[in-house]
Amino acid sequence: MSASPPLHVPVLLDEVLHWIDPRPGQTIVDGTLGGGGHTRALAERVGSAGRIIALDRDPAALAAAEVNLAGMPVAIAQADFCDLGEVLAELAIDQVDAVLLDIGLSSDQLADPARGFSFESDGPLDLRFDATTGEPAWRLLERMGADELADLIYGFGEERFSRRIARRIVECRPATPIRTARELAALVRRCVPRSRDSERIDPATRTFQALRIAVNHELQSLARALERIPNFLIPGGRLAVISFHSLEDRPVKEAFRDNACLRPLTKKPVIAGATEIARNPRARSAKLRVAEKIIAPRQA
Ligand SMILES: C[S@@+](CC[C@H](N)C(=O)[O-])C[C@H]1O[C@@H](n2cnc3c(N)ncnc32)[C@H](O)[C@@H]1O
Repeated sequence: MSASPPLHVPVLLDEVLHWIDPRPGQTIVDGTLGGGGHTRALAERVGSAGRIIALDRDPAALAAAEVNLAGMPVAIAQADFCDLGEVLAELAIDQVDAVLLDIGLSSDQLADPARGFSFESDGPLDLRFDATTGEPAWRLLERMGADELADLIYGFGEERFSRRIARRIVECRPATPIRTARELAALVRRCVPRSRDSERIDPATRTFQALRIAVNHELQSLARALERIPNFLIPGGRLAVISFHSLEDRPVKEAFRDNACLRPLTKKPVIAGATEIARNPRARSAKLRVAEKIIAPRQA
């Protein structure tokens, strides 16, 4: 079977390898397989005596990786990273040397017009990582009241014009319900005034982010993962998390500070340098934080 090579370019790869410091024979979890870039680099480091356990919610990412990473010491499973405990139990593994989470969306998902992640796509506005469970974003736009929708767009997108956007969606939907990403992006652009900011990022960005977070329950998964994953690290094991916006970075920072079993290793988040950003603009907003599992829990 063949699969196209992944479009996704892993961000902060050198930095991830520096902080996780994978060694031959280790067992490491990549909780967000995506295009497999981080998984591949980690697998090369742990070698055939080690193992990478790579998870993703997206069946398409798993299917491509089965082909692209064939022959490497990688065990691939469809799972939410917050359910790592169940995956490890199935593999009869108690603890691992490190866990990497590179949260959010891959370039391969963005490029697939059938999934609605790209603002210009004419496919259904779905936005789920796993389209076999939950509800697509277009249905959420169809059933929610204006206030509930506005709260969602504000809460998960920090969009100042959330009320205006939600009202317009609800007013328009009896005659022209939103079914595609292109339709939603056009509506949002009509509601958000042009500002200096909008020259840099599309005005639809925050609304799409909010809907994606909602349909995938992303912040709930992250909160659960931050609570549970330290239990599955060996003493001295490392948890590395790459986030792309403040709603993700804040809970990571707080969990690393407040969990008595963890010691933050990165005082400030590690960010990409100019060369990486020039090569991969997606790296612009990436923030990497790393913590170490400590042997004796800190006293409160
Ligand atoms: C930014 S991409 C990862 C890219 C990957 N590090 C690489 O080098 O190609 C994020 C991936 O995480 C997956 N994902 C997002 N939330 C997840 C979760 N809670 N559990 C498992 N996978 C998740 C997405 O489906 C997506 O494929």
